[in-house]
Amino acid sequence: MIDCPTVETARLLLRPLEEADLDRYYEIHSTPEVRSSLHTPESFSRDDAWAQMAAQRGQWALRHSGQWAVERKDTGEMLGRAGTHRPQRSNWPGLECGWTFDPAHWGHGYATEAGRAAVEWAFANHDDDRLFSVILPGNTPSQAVATRLGFTLLEERVLEFFPSEAHGIWVLPRPQ
Ligand SMILES: CC(C)(COP(=O)(O)OP(=O)(O)OC[C@H]1O[C@@H](n2cnc3c(N)ncnc32)[C@H](O)[C@@H]1OP(=O)(O)O)[C@@H](O)C(=O)NCCC(=O)NCCS
Repeated sequence: MIDCPTVETARLLLRPLEEADLDRYYEIHSTPEVRSSLHTPESFSRDDAWAQMAAQRGQWALRHSGQWAVERKDTGEMLGRAGTHRPQRSNWPGLECGWTFDPAHWGHGYATEAGRAAVEWAFANHDDDRLFSVILPGNTPSQAVATRLGFTLLEERVLEFFPSEAHGIWVLPRPQ
């Protein structure tokens, strides 16, 4: 089993996060828009960014799920990250699809394109009957991506990793 595969879409390359991505990864996750959407702590540092990247690669190795670096095929620029996520958290709903992009590249359909590839890859490579997307109620851009991919809101529930607010649990059943 290849720990993290590479997937191509019309405009994007979804590839493993690499050591050389650290500064760009940190830059994207340090933008005010991303920090506010993800409720990133004030203390978030370049070291934390590296730890996140390492955890993603580790998840690929251990669970065959994780996020990809997403880059534009025509320019090679890294635009963000997207993919699957199955963390070790007690009341996490299941295999999640998620997306985070540089605000400079919002509004071009890149998250939906990468998210669609993640959904197709997840159903093709995992046995799960349903995929989930875990989204805070105020995060309308992320809800719009989920809706475009066919997810619907199942319930709102407080997850242990984020006790201060209920998350929306969005669900997508495996196509028949
Ligand atoms: C969530 C997030 C990735 C959504 O980004 P986005 O740019 O709104 O989503 P998409 O890339 O799918 O782009 C959709 C928009 O591009 C437009 N678009 C332009 N060209 C397009 C094309 N070729 N194909 C599809 N859509 C296109 C769509 O009409 C849509 O516009 P609208 O927002 O005015 O309706 C982004 O807001 C983000 O990174 N947020 C911070 C991190 C975060 O919250 N992650 C999710 C945690 S749950």
